[in-house]
Amino acid sequence: GLAINVPLPDTVYVSISFAILAGVVTWKTLPRLAMTFVNARVSGVDVLKPDRPVIPEAMGFPTAVVYLIAMFCFIPFPFIDWFDGQARLVHEDNPMIGTFPYHKLGQILSAILAIQSMVLLGFADDILDVRWRYKVWFPAVASIPLLIFYYTNFGVTYVVLPLQLRPYVGDLVDLGPFYYLYMVMLVIFCTHTINILAGINGIEAGQSLIIALSVIINDLLFMFNNPDRESLEAHLFSLYFMLPFAGVTFALLTQNWFPARVFVGDTYCYFAGITFAVVGILGHFSKTLVLFFIPQIFNFLYSCPQLFRFVDCPRHRMPRLDSETKKLRCSTVIIKPNNSIRGKLGYLFLKFLYLLGLLKVFKRGENGRILECNNLTIINLVLARFGPMSEVHTTRMIMGIQVLSSLFAFFIRYKLVQYVY
Ligand code: UD1
Ligand code: MG
Repeated sequence: GLAINVPLPDTVYVSISFAILAGVVTWKTLPRLAMTFVNARVSGVDVLKPDRPVIPEAMGFPTAVVYLIAMFCFIPFPFIDWFDGQARLVHEDNPMIGTFPYHKLGQILSAILAIQSMVLLGFADDILDVRWRYKVWFPAVASIPLLIFYYTNFGVTYVVLPLQLRPYVGDLVDLGPFYYLYMVMLVIFCTHTINILAGINGIEAGQSLIIALSVIINDLLFMFNNPDRESLEAHLFSLYFMLPFAGVTFALLTQNWFPARVFVGDTYCYFAGITFAVVGILGHFSKTLVLFFIPQIFNFLYSCPQLFRFVDCPRHRMPRLDSETKKLRCSTVIIKPNNSIRGKLGYLFLKFLYLLGLLKVFKRGENGRILECNNLTIINLVLARFGPMSEVHTTRMIMGIQVLSSLFAFFIRYKLVQYVY
């Protein structure tokens, strides 16, 4: 059971204070910036409302700026012991050796640098509407500071194998450079999967808040379970970044929840994704982190036929508003006859999804050929199954799925895992 005999270090309370403060500042700032953004034409049409209002876009940018300022100000606190009267700036026996943990400072700085770079590129994307073929790589660029820090400080590139494989391969396998590839892919995955699970009010910030709270609970579970020094530090590091993130995200969500007064923009999706990836990588729990992304993984896999253009992918795949009932229905895609290998494979995917009960067909040709079906996103799937539904109801349902997935993730992490590791 849980033995609560590790008091939380003071820095955690400092971090909680920063989280609350940053949340309040964000909550106060966003409404004030709304008109400024609209006047600068950083705005978007809320297409799922009958009157299609224009509201500010990219509000994830000021949100991330408040977060970054909070993190800048927080930097000294984990090192407070080195500032007080009995400063241990030098080693007791050997005054030539400093004891200041520069690697820990480097860890925090590289994490902030990666997040800040991602925010910069995300804002560029919101302003310039960068094409997908370029912006796919943005997170890879932003992850460079992280990878350099990882290389120079841990350099650990092996993974522990499942029990079932150990007799054949050994306990550990060294992935070498492939481990760095894995980390880059993790950053790309975290950022873009949040960005494509989007299109109805409250969904980007809502899913991120649930993931952040899951990470925080996971950190606390670790800390209360007598961890060794190293994992205590790792999960402390995660808390320092996740607590203020949850604070600003909550403030943003209050404005973005149905009926939205602001849009979060791609800036926010990238900001959220890289913040998760940073704590997962530097906190050494990237596998657990991925478990909290179950709905995003599903949505990504489900989207693949459209993302990789085996099936047409319209610019926007969000649901449609039924103007009479004011409810949402799933949006659809027309399947043009296409005899290339790509088109044939795409059609096979669709038939497979149909067999699994994961596709709603709207129109068939005389030979039974699928001519129109729902767009391949989890939001449209939910609407195809349970719709038509109001927008807020749809958001709540996706949030419910996210919470259930997190509970399932904890079950895997703390119950099932003993059979594998
Ligand atoms: C991603 C999705 C796209 C989806 C879009 C919605 C993929 C490959 N891309 O594109 O299918 O339509 O997100 O965010 O899956 N909007 C609303 N209500 C909301 C949120 C957004 O109407 O609650 C509209 C607004 O017009 C807003 C626009 O979506 O301006 C933002 O779209 P953008 O973030 O630029 O789309 P992508 O991230 O490129
Ligand atoms: Mg987007």
